[in-house]
Amino acid sequence: MCGIIGYIGERQAPDILIDGLQKLEYRGYDSAGIAVFDHNSIKVIKTEGKVSALAKKKAAADLQEVHCGIGHTRWATHGEPSDINAHPHSVGRVTLVHNGIIENYAELGERYHPSPLSRTDTEIAAAVINACYHGDAVSAIFEAVNMFHGAYALCIMFEDQPDTVYAIRKSSPLIVAVGENETFLASDIPAILSHTKDYYLPEKGELAILTKQGVRFVGATGESIEKELKTADWDESAARKNGYDHYMLKEIFEQPAVIEQTILRYKNDFTIFENEDFDFEVKGNIHIVACGSAYHAGLMGKYAIEKLARVPVLVHIASEFRYDNPILHKDDLVIAISQSGETADTLAAVRLAKEHNVRTLGIVNVRGSSLSRLADHTLYTLAGPEIAVATTKAYLCQVCLLQLLAVRMAGKGLTMQEYKDMMVAFEALPAQIEQALSFCDDAKALAEKFKNAEHIFFMGRGQDSCLAMEASLKLKEISYIHSEAYAAGELKHGTISLITENTPIISIMTDRNRLPKTASNLKETGARGALITAVTYSDVRADAYTDEQISIPVMNEMTAPLIAAVKLQLLAYYVALSKGCDIDQPRNLAKSVTVE
Ligand code: F6R
Repeated sequence: MCGIIGYIGERQAPDILIDGLQKLEYRGYDSAGIAVFDHNSIKVIKTEGKVSALAKKKAAADLQEVHCGIGHTRWATHGEPSDINAHPHSVGRVTLVHNGIIENYAELGERYHPSPLSRTDTEIAAAVINACYHGDAVSAIFEAVNMFHGAYALCIMFEDQPDTVYAIRKSSPLIVAVGENETFLASDIPAILSHTKDYYLPEKGELAILTKQGVRFVGATGESIEKELKTADWDESAARKNGYDHYMLKEIFEQPAVIEQTILRYKNDFTIFENEDFDFEVKGNIHIVACGSAYHAGLMGKYAIEKLARVPVLVHIASEFRYDNPILHKDDLVIAISQSGETADTLAAVRLAKEHNVRTLGIVNVRGSSLSRLADHTLYTLAGPEIAVATTKAYLCQVCLLQLLAVRMAGKGLTMQEYKDMMVAFEALPAQIEQALSFCDDAKALAEKFKNAEHIFFMGRGQDSCLAMEASLKLKEISYIHSEAYAAGELKHGTISLITENTPIISIMTDRNRLPKTASNLKETGARGALITAVTYSDVRADAYTDEQISIPVMNEMTAPLIAAVKLQLLAYYVALSKGCDIDQPRNLAKSVTVE
């Protein structure tokens, strides 16, 4: 995630841009920059670090009578955070800021910009537009974006067109807002809410042309597009949550976009980041160390890596790892997973691995965090800042990244067909998650059935038992209902004695081979009066042995649990909501656990 902003009007543009970037900083904060028209030429000010560092640089730049500009706060995807990689980027007559990922930037770079200054896909985007530009901005932009694969929201200025800003998007968010003799661009509404509440939502293929007088939208052949002006009716706090009642819900709804970012970033290319010299072949064992939900993501990762890459994976609870005297060999790889990158136990596990001279790889969401500095190599989940204590989007990105890593590690061990199947599965995921979000109303209704339960059991087999652990944690940590998760076959080895009339059981069934076995387990609990909900494919007729079915589309079995996860996050959210719990800050918990 990155934040973008633009302004044209009568007021001092740099102040409005910096103010907007501060409000967008939750979307990314490793570097920031602005570009403004200053006496008919474009001046760029940018820096590594937070928007406060940019504000200092701007103050020193002595900009006067500047009324048009664009700005950006970055959550790096290509190239490390640095002054040079910070946006805006300029090539020839074009200066732009970008949110998203241009997937085919390497091949475009070879053709249009073989010697870039930065390591970003954004500079290549600027070069492509510049190459297409011969005085007609509209056709240049459309010609260029037709070549872009991936996701983007672009705000573009041309050196020879002062006081005009162009903006276009595909997948990444962007709004165009209008005030009295001024127009704005922003990644989302909170950034401009103190100036105006009136905005447009540009769709894919609609180019916005902003001047002080207003905005017009045109299509690929220059035809005018009429758009509906919307009005935001949020207060400050609602605006920070983008209109959602809680950060948790907002973050659940961000999942299609952040999963798309993560997939676009790593689908074809694990090589650019800090991992250039990373050898994906592991001759020994892989040890995954993590806590809580990140540990649950690790269990899913084990499944994917062992299935696809056939490398043995041991998943350790990080707080146990160093006291277990783990058996580590120099050919092993330790993967530490952490959203915050600050979890004390996970850091201690990595230190131990390093003492044993074992390679370490961090899977981290927060850039510059302790884990990203400590691990030999880092892969970033591109979930963007997560505020709610209960993780949702970071967990989903961790699982997805581990599955992408499994494909990379498998390399030529996969047949072309297996590889293609996985790619098709990844490409379908964002839309499938989007569709899963329409489960809200059903989740609300189901929550009424669960809210008075004292205990809820989750179960599944294979990957589904790993997801059961996460779904159970999500529910209990925010709703305070006691919950446990079991591998379905384990229930009859003890826990079934707890099943009595109306005990709720939620069974996750995305593994078709094991489905008949799980069905038998459910029948055993049904015979004892359990109230059974099955999360399974829409083509599975589970009604003979269940009370409810939460359906997911018929899809790839490796990625299916991610869709089940989204629906169970929503269920947990609405159960907690119906009980009046403090969803974003559950009792006794903290977002980052920096003590052992
Ligand atoms: C649960 C949750 C926690 C974290 C755990 C590890 O919703 O968020 O279980 O997953 O505390 O935190 P990180 O990923 O920051 O190391």
